[in-house]
Amino acid sequence: MLSQTRTSLPMYLQQEEILEPECKTLISSLPKENGWVASHLYKYQGFWNPARHLQGIMICQKNFVARDSDVFLVTTPKSGTTWLKAILFTLINRKYCPINQNHPLLRNNPHDLVPFLELKLYVDNQIPDLSNLNSPRLFATHIPFFSLPKSVQDSSCKLVYLCRNPKDTFVSLWQFSNKLRLQEMGSNSLGETFDMFCRGVSIYGPFWDHVLDYWKESMEKPHKVLFLKYEDMKEQPNANLRRIAEFLGRPFSNEEEESGMVEGILKLCSFDTLSNLKINRTGKLSSGEENKAFFRQGKVGDWKNHLPIEMAQKLDQITEQKFSGSGLVM
Ligand code: A3P
Repeated sequence: MLSQTRTSLPMYLQQEEILEPECKTLISSLPKENGWVASHLYKYQGFWNPARHLQGIMICQKNFVARDSDVFLVTTPKSGTTWLKAILFTLINRKYCPINQNHPLLRNNPHDLVPFLELKLYVDNQIPDLSNLNSPRLFATHIPFFSLPKSVQDSSCKLVYLCRNPKDTFVSLWQFSNKLRLQEMGSNSLGETFDMFCRGVSIYGPFWDHVLDYWKESMEKPHKVLFLKYEDMKEQPNANLRRIAEFLGRPFSNEEEESGMVEGILKLCSFDTLSNLKINRTGKLSSGEENKAFFRQGKVGDWKNHLPIEMAQKLDQITEQKFSGSGLVM
């Protein structure tokens, strides 16, 4: 049992007890499993989430109206969302927020500059007034493709999708979950969480279904969905940043290229720069997570330091089987 009173828990651990009655009723009918951080995960529209996120997804599905000019960063958790939030924010706002000592990223965590639809704007039964936001509005979400608010699917808004190889994603998620658990909850064991991940029972999981739905959409509608991998961003950051800029209809001008804008954005948003800022070493999100929890190693292949070979092979097998025939390789 937790020794703290419920109200002293960080928001991300407050779950079933803070739901609206309508959502409580619906959730009570859903398949349920033990959670990695919050007490339970529920299966809604094919994907697993804690109760508080589910309420956010439902409220957002009901109330969010997309504009054709909107830009969405969609990611699988732990695929580099924080990084891409920083990059997209800097890219889109480069005319009004030049890269200098006053840049907002130097004083704000990327999650505070690019809000999650279901985890920030529509969370806790809020219906935010978004009418005054400047165009293009930039939002983030982890919502699976077929659960996106209808207007996001139907409008001409753009989705930048980011995923990461499942081995590094799993290790990052496992480590993150243990950072978010209170000391008295103990740690998640590698074996138990691995089995859950493989069964698809992880936040916004099954991981493979999430990725595959967006992959297919990006193949069918390349003007609407840009599909990116963390590994490619790491390997060829300049080329991929230019790709993102073109996809969003904001290519770099010759002048910007000559002034080193591409390199400047990548440097500002790099793991080294962001993770060493005071705001990211000491601050917290309004939902209670410490900013520093979003910066760990920032490397490709760290799974080798954590996963026994049999686990790595199992993930490879599942990936091969799930993506077979899709053209997607990870
Ligand atoms: P690791 O746990 O492997 O280090 P998300 O932002 O989706 O929660 O993903 C977090 C992962 O992205 C973590 O991976 C984190 O270290 C990494 N990350 C955070 N900022 C980054 C950056 N600027 N560049 C590269 N990776 C970054």
